[in-house]
Amino acid sequence: MSHSQRTRSGHATMPLVAAAQGSTPSRRPVWFMRQAGRSLPEYRAIRENHGMLESCFDPELVTEITLQPVRRHDVDAAILFSDIVVPLKAAGVDLDIVAGTGPVIAAPIRTEADVAGLPRLDPAQVGAVAHAVERILAELPAETALIGFAGAPFTLASYLIEGGPSRNYVNTKALMRGAPEVWNALMGRLADITITFLQVQLEAGVDAIQVFDSWAGALSEADYRTYVAPHTDRVFAEVAGYGVPRIHFGVGTGELLAAMAAPADVIGVDWRVPLTEAVRRVGPGKAVQGNLDPTVLFAGPQVIEREIRRVLDDGATAIATGATGHIVNLGHGVLPDTDAKVLTRAVELIHTL
Ligand code: CP3
Repeated sequence: MSHSQRTRSGHATMPLVAAAQGSTPSRRPVWFMRQAGRSLPEYRAIRENHGMLESCFDPELVTEITLQPVRRHDVDAAILFSDIVVPLKAAGVDLDIVAGTGPVIAAPIRTEADVAGLPRLDPAQVGAVAHAVERILAELPAETALIGFAGAPFTLASYLIEGGPSRNYVNTKALMRGAPEVWNALMGRLADITITFLQVQLEAGVDAIQVFDSWAGALSEADYRTYVAPHTDRVFAEVAGYGVPRIHFGVGTGELLAAMAAPADVIGVDWRVPLTEAVRRVGPGKAVQGNLDPTVLFAGPQVIEREIRRVLDDGATAIATGATGHIVNLGHGVLPDTDAKVLTRAVELIHTL
């Protein structure tokens, strides 16, 4: 079976795709953000000999790391092992991913000239990612979805403008409000890069995509709608034609849920807002994804079971009140110290309760 046949014929029967598209999944779909990373000893073993960005551009390593959590935990989706800064790096932006810190940009972007100098992404520059997707699909069980992803323009802009991770986004918000033409030019360029990166993954056959606007929760709803939504909405519109579920996720985005859900099929919800309340905010017709607090996994088996039951019940009520489906996940990524055995047990519970 070729890759395109795998997506077209088997797609609708994948539990994750069924939940996203409003049909009844054969079991409750579950996967974890950051499932392919430092919680796994087999991941750490690979990374002893390979740098982070080096790994992201090596199709063989991407395939192996992406499949590790599927083999170990029996999750319903694999997420492509990559990073939100991979398309920027591929396009030629001088950056690195520093362990314990995150992305660090050599020359932050602050002016009109900086924006004009931002390189564009040629699909061939992320050919290694396309190749990795094809290899993964050839090995992935037919019912397991492969999720492709990209960073949303705002979260990418925040790294480029601040030069790295930030607490208050002072420079980002100053540019956004003080020089809206420069801001919109930058966001437009980043939206183009995000669209190209997603299209490359979709052409290679991914079964769903997730757009991470991890740090959009730093904005008010009004600022999100004015400065961000036009660009992110364009990203979602440009990939609608592939007919695969499009997930939109951010952290601390309770006040933004309606605006963020509008262009997407699935809205990611963190642990601060109950799934039923999220449905009240976004209205009917969207699936919800989430929202176990990642720290619950450190609280012992009784608390874990109680919290999983609570999220499953909340998800069932969300569906009864208008959500098209529920994809179980954490409210943000797996914390690095999480015991991998606890994750496996959580998946078992979610599939059997
Ligand atoms: O599930 C997965 O692991 C899939 C792969 C994945 C990574 N990054 C690998 C990674 C995904 C989906 C991302 C997305 C990403 N990258 C986001 C959005 C998701 C989120 O957490 O909100 C963001 C904001 C980034 C930027 C980034 N890259 C950060 C903040 C960090 C953490 C820095 C650290 O070391 O604590 C990274 C590094 C990174 N990306 C790691 C992994 C596995 C850790 C690097 C390592 O193993 O040394």
